[in-house]
Amino acid sequence: MTARLQVVLLGFVIFTSIAIALHAFGFQLRLSGSPDFHVRFDAIPIPAAMHVLGSGLALLIGGFQFSQTLRRKYLHVHRWLGRIYLIMILIGGLGSFLLAPQAAGGLVAKIGFFLLAVLWWFSAFQAYVAVRRGDIAEHRAWMLRNFALTFAAVTLRIQLGTLTASGVPFEEAYPVVAWLSWVPNLVLIEWYLALSQRKAAANARAAPEGALSGN
Ligand code: HEM
Repeated sequence: MTARLQVVLLGFVIFTSIAIALHAFGFQLRLSGSPDFHVRFDAIPIPAAMHVLGSGLALLIGGFQFSQTLRRKYLHVHRWLGRIYLIMILIGGLGSFLLAPQAAGGLVAKIGFFLLAVLWWFSAFQAYVAVRRGDIAEHRAWMLRNFALTFAAVTLRIQLGTLTASGVPFEEAYPVVAWLSWVPNLVLIEWYLALSQRKAAANARAAPEGALSGN
């Protein structure tokens, strides 16, 4: 992937993340969101607020963490945002576990959201353990996987909006997007990681040859 494409992609990710994070804060203030959701969320207001605000903040912060400029010039900011991001996942994820059993869309949607919450916590934990051991490559890989899951909040709303606008009833669309919002995100990241690894290995093989030939 070229550097320019990476910047454009990151810009898109940050822009859409901010938009959906603002929707989450609006939801908490009752400025947005469908009445059905508010009824379900009002039944467990504290876990619901933990989910909406915690996950919303994680989404707001997450994209910026992949900026090379931020990491190179302001590493202390990257570290502090990283700590806040992980705490927000802890809080937001706990809320997700409590919301998943009462989600709309039947058992298929409930299992989809529950598994997403498990993987969200698991990948955040792996990223934290990797950075504590000083393994930056592994930390980056786990954070990419983790943010691909955080970004499900964006893909879900794009997919749900597209499906319902095309005439698919909400009850049919919701169980589909409970999986479709995150499984392809993860597959794409795994593919990107495998590609980067192959490229790095090829460069490493080429480097000694270049050194020998005096290049
Ligand atoms: C990645 C892990 C996540 C999981 C497992 C998860 C799970 C859930 C569940 C189970 C619901 C309730 C669905 C229902 O009652 O039918 C929900 C709704 C909601 N979630 Fe998440 N979520 C995650 C990430 C996020 C993020 C990052 C945000 C930030 C914007 C977010 C914001 C919301 C909002 C605002 C609602 C209310 C419904 C709506 O407006 O669409 N969630 N989520």
